[in-house]
Amino acid sequence: MKVLVIGGGGREHTLAWKLAQSPKITQLYSAPGNPGMAAISECVPIGVDAIDELIAFAKQGQIDWTVVGPENPLCDGLVDRFQAEGLKAYGPRQAPAQLEGSKIFSKRFMAEHNIPTAPFDVFQNATDTKNYIEQRGLPQVIKADGLAAGKGVFVCFSQEDVDEALNEIFEKKSFGDAGLEVIVEDCLEGIEASFLVFADGDHALPLAPAQDHKPIFEGNKGPNTGGMGTFCPTTTLSAALQQEVINTVVQPVLDGMKAKGTPFKGILYTGLMLTQDGPLVLEFNVRFGDPEAQVILPRLNTDLIDIFEATEQGTLNQLPLSWDEREALCVIMASGGYPGSYEKGQVISGLDQVGEDVIIFHAGTKQDGGNIVTNGGRVLGVTALAATREDARRQAYTAVEKISWNGAYYRKDIGIN
Ligand code: AMP
Ligand code: GLY
Repeated sequence: MKVLVIGGGGREHTLAWKLAQSPKITQLYSAPGNPGMAAISECVPIGVDAIDELIAFAKQGQIDWTVVGPENPLCDGLVDRFQAEGLKAYGPRQAPAQLEGSKIFSKRFMAEHNIPTAPFDVFQNATDTKNYIEQRGLPQVIKADGLAAGKGVFVCFSQEDVDEALNEIFEKKSFGDAGLEVIVEDCLEGIEASFLVFADGDHALPLAPAQDHKPIFEGNKGPNTGGMGTFCPTTTLSAALQQEVINTVVQPVLDGMKAKGTPFKGILYTGLMLTQDGPLVLEFNVRFGDPEAQVILPRLNTDLIDIFEATEQGTLNQLPLSWDEREALCVIMASGGYPGSYEKGQVISGLDQVGEDVIIFHAGTKQDGGNIVTNGGRVLGVTALAATREDARRQAYTAVEKISWNGAYYRKDIGIN
């Protein structure tokens, strides 16, 4: 079987790493991939947005399955386009992908289907947003409607925070069209958890729950990032809570999407706040989390191809997942300055100093002659698997300390805070 992974970040390296272990796969390609993916697959220089070229490659190369890592091509309808050409692609079609592509669509869908989430309203300009927040009282959360790589959310505790967010969205237009409209929602208090399921349109197959650490600084301070580290499993989402989330959130999403004639097939990622009033939805994503994938997939024993095929056939309910008992923890190493501006092209050293007990997932890296250099905000994800989270933490940080470049930054409290 020939398989193509679309994307070139840490999540896609993890998908390729997992697929490379499948005895069913004879040839693995990545588009565009990264130096980490180049070691385990053949990289083809096609960008994730070049849907026509990707289709041409998949047809010519007789690709059996294409797996889509990032949200943008899913929201742009890549899966619809592939399927129209008779090609198999794993991930939701464009209509259900709007759950992530538009936060307004997502909140309205939740309201329509009584899915528990924070009260909200929608605005098109700074003045109306400010007036609403004044009325409602701080803290409030302002979110750009469209895709913003995890950076379009502003948790506002003070008027200053509000002004800064509105300046970013409506004055500087930092999010372009994704920031033409915003939602404002009540700020929720509690513990966050990410709950991912494989879905086949009817059935949901839960993955082991993981915990992300989104803010850039230790103690969960500073601006949000795409994610600075993860661990899996997390005990914050007990089996009973998972069942509650399936009943109140996941199944209503699947049923609601099916009723609209746009069944959800792929990964449904629910970002939750576990509040005193129970679990409330912060957001939906329609793909693996990054860096949640870096701790979930190394623990999954089941072959991904079996999951893709059961999804296509609508038989996920007959496929029990099997998990590695060990715990996984991933530390993200980022470029200094991220999630703001940062330098690229810094030579990374120490990659070969790291033992086999950890996996290094490449994200923002590039081959530059004989060197691997930084090429993005989040550069590497260092994942360790061990009997306990504490052991995994120790192993991951031991490896992280051996890797360096000018300005390398990582949070030291992954798995603690
Ligand atoms: P989102 O992309 O919508 O999940 O938001 C990114 C992050 O912002 C979340 O992981 C939370 O840490 C925070 N956040 C989003 N919405 C809220 C909310 N209503 N209350 C408190 N924190 C929030
Ligand atoms: N780690 C958060 C995300 O992938 O959206």
